[in-house]
Amino acid sequence: MKILVTGGLGFIGSHTVVELQTEGFDVVIIDNLSNANENVLDGITSITQKTPIFEKIDLREKADVQDFFKRHADIAGVIHFAASKAVNESVENPLLYYENNLNSLIYLLQELQQKNRANFIFSSSCTVYGQAEKMPITEAAPIQPALSPYGNTKQIGEEIITETAKVTNINAILLRYFNPVGAHPSAAIGELPLGVPQNLVPFITQTGIGIRKELSVYGDDYPTADGTCVRDYIHVVDLAKAHVVALQRLLNKKNPEKVEIFNLGTGTGSSVLEVIQTFEKVSGKKLPYKIVGRREGDITEAYANTDKANSVLGWKAKSTLEDSLASAWKWEQKIRADK
Ligand code: WQD
Repeated sequence: MKILVTGGLGFIGSHTVVELQTEGFDVVIIDNLSNANENVLDGITSITQKTPIFEKIDLREKADVQDFFKRHADIAGVIHFAASKAVNESVENPLLYYENNLNSLIYLLQELQQKNRANFIFSSSCTVYGQAEKMPITEAAPIQPALSPYGNTKQIGEEIITETAKVTNINAILLRYFNPVGAHPSAAIGELPLGVPQNLVPFITQTGIGIRKELSVYGDDYPTADGTCVRDYIHVVDLAKAHVVALQRLLNKKNPEKVEIFNLGTGTGSSVLEVIQTFEKVSGKKLPYKIVGRREGDITEAYANTDKANSVLGWKAKSTLEDSLASAWKWEQKIRADK
């Protein structure tokens, strides 16, 4: 069976391609290489011994999307990762985010709605909950006004899919990720942040390897046990496996509703200081850091209630924070050694 993975050369996309191929699926990747490198294909192939078909297409080009689906009429399912995802950049350049993230989605759905049955997995984010009232966060938690254009494109994207699925043959699963971290245990693929990393874990590993002088901890005056923000850090391979399980659920027509939503996390919250301590333990390195002011837009706490993913989807994260940080550290050392 042929599966389209948009953004398949990106961080979560590439790990999902590996898990799809391992499950025996044929994979076609669409990526415009705006935030990914074509040599990620070599990393994928070195793990699975199979090279996915890759087409450099920008999903904002409607004619190119239509042409793709004419040439690949046998696509059995789509996993849609391709989107701009830098929160701060979205605040500075909202139109880039609305145009890219929404037009890409709309052009994809316009092709899928013509199929007798379309199976669509959407990369969403716990950011749609804002600062949820109750921890751990369930899928029933209310959607709160988006804190950034990036987060808003995820909320609007979910609404577009939900309303379209109601009146077409599109079946969809919305996967709301918590904080994806780590790298494939082979260290053949991993996170490749462009420029200065915005996210905590790549900044930590770059500090550990000496590229960054020290980590700035954005505030230790939050109402949490140690004053620093709490997040649910999920291993990217666990996350990738969840996509395959969700896709198989749709392919096997096990979904009772046209649109289903699942939170994907470990169910455990970790503070910034706990992440630092865990990194020091797995790397054997002392991490230089300083406490600075809060970062605009950060929420205090977010970790997932994983009951629905465990019981309905039949998926559970296996890796611990230690596993995730050890894999991230191994990956950082590998890419610097290759430099
Ligand atoms: C985690 C914690 C920071 C960097 C974002 C997006 C979310 C998803 C994941 C795309 C926070 C602190 C960070 C640093 C720090 N992205 N931190 N120093 O903000 O929870 O989520 O990335 O889907 O949508 O919002 O992740 O890794 O940026 O931050 O102290 O140099 O680490 O304050 O508490 P975040 P993050």
